[in-house]
Amino acid sequence: MTTTENQTLTRLSTVDTAKVLALVLLPIVARGAVIRRPRAVALAQRLDADRHAVTLLTRLRARYGDAPLRLRVPGRNLVLPLDSADAHEALARSPEPFTPANLEKRHALGQFQPEGLLISPARARARRREFTEEVLDTPRPVHPQAADFTAIVQDTMAPLLARPELDWPTFTRQWWRLVRQVVLGAGAAEDHLLTDRLFALRRAGNWSWLHPRESRHRELFLRQLRGTIERAQPGSLAARIAETRPGPEIHPESQVAHWLFAFDAAGIAIFRTLALLATHPEQELKALAESAGASPDSYWELPYLRGCVLESLRLWPTTPLILRDSTVDTSLGGHDIPAGSTIILFTPYLHRAPAGFTPEIWRDGTAQFHGALVPFSDGPAVCPGRNLVLFLTTQVLATLRREHEIGLLSRAHLRPEHPLPSVLNHFALRFALSRRG
Ligand code: HEM
Repeated sequence: MTTTENQTLTRLSTVDTAKVLALVLLPIVARGAVIRRPRAVALAQRLDADRHAVTLLTRLRARYGDAPLRLRVPGRNLVLPLDSADAHEALARSPEPFTPANLEKRHALGQFQPEGLLISPARARARRREFTEEVLDTPRPVHPQAADFTAIVQDTMAPLLARPELDWPTFTRQWWRLVRQVVLGAGAAEDHLLTDRLFALRRAGNWSWLHPRESRHRELFLRQLRGTIERAQPGSLAARIAETRPGPEIHPESQVAHWLFAFDAAGIAIFRTLALLATHPEQELKALAESAGASPDSYWELPYLRGCVLESLRLWPTTPLILRDSTVDTSLGGHDIPAGSTIILFTPYLHRAPAGFTPEIWRDGTAQFHGALVPFSDGPAVCPGRNLVLFLTTQVLATLRREHEIGLLSRAHLRPEHPLPSVLNHFALRFALSRRG
């Protein structure tokens, strides 16, 4: 609601708007918002791109004050909150008046998940969110199918441990075998065509409204996915879908398309966490002690290792832009926000402190008081897959590191005594594996 006490946001100058577009938004779009482009990620790491973006925003905040920055872009009202309280407010007041179904996202994700929860209109959102939370068992740290999933982790990771080296292409092939089994069942383990079709649609999604709708390919992909879900193999999320008896408004294939897409970020987080642990002996020892000292039940939770994964997502957020569109005239942090504005949360800025690899902040309460650390977003549209992701990623990391020492071979400048790079190119990470003595 707009009230007379609200203030009008000051617009940035044209020059400052151009700088924000060039140094903050363009590098993220160039890297690929829906699927990462390897060459652009490599270049961003070389240029330390997000450091320049954070420095610019820090400077603009000093000049313009703590209120959200309003960009001077013709035809669009783009608002960039920098204060963590404003960021939290935008997320807490989702889906109304700040809807996650933002214009760019609807076009980008609509290429492969036309009825997906994240881009759903208000009338369909509540039922789809309820369905998603039920299948993913959102609130609980350990999913009811944990035993099945752990067996899949052991099975798919074992071949990687038989090799002296691990690189991204090798890891990612096994990771997708794992994901297809967890989501769809053992019969989908080798269904590379399904994920290849999804990858192609995601590449089109990178261009948002600049790319025509890939209707025929989308239909082929969704039809194939629908068939696989209907076969619902035991031990998979698809089997749980069948148990929930979803109504016609759910469109499970669209929801599952989002889950498959989002598991990409989890694979990236695993690889980056491996790199952090390989270069930070103190944290590595703590993580190992936790796995070694845990009983089979508590082993599943691995809170310290969860902190390590959360740190990789804080330091190098896989969702660098969280977007919301205002559905009505409203306010944010006491400032007028007209209907149709786009609120842009730039997570590398919100996550900028602390500077180093500090897994303990996720357990001792510091993270809650450290501003807006939102790798999984926050509020009513917070990622419903958070616990499942943390469960699977920590299981993979524990499995890979239980009996093997993993050293970093690639040059990534990840030494504890140096500032960490603002972008970490996961495509280029390479590790040496050797059995612990
Ligand atoms: C490292 C892995 C992941 C990260 C960092 C992550 C992060 C996020 C973030 C930041 C959002 C909010 C996006 C926005 O508002 O635009 C989100 C939403 C969502 N995520 Fe995840 N996610 C991950 C993996 C997953 C997985 C594996 C699943 C499913 C199995 C999943 C399911 C969802 C769904 C359904 C939404 C939409 C929620 C809604 O609109 O109510 N995510 N995630």
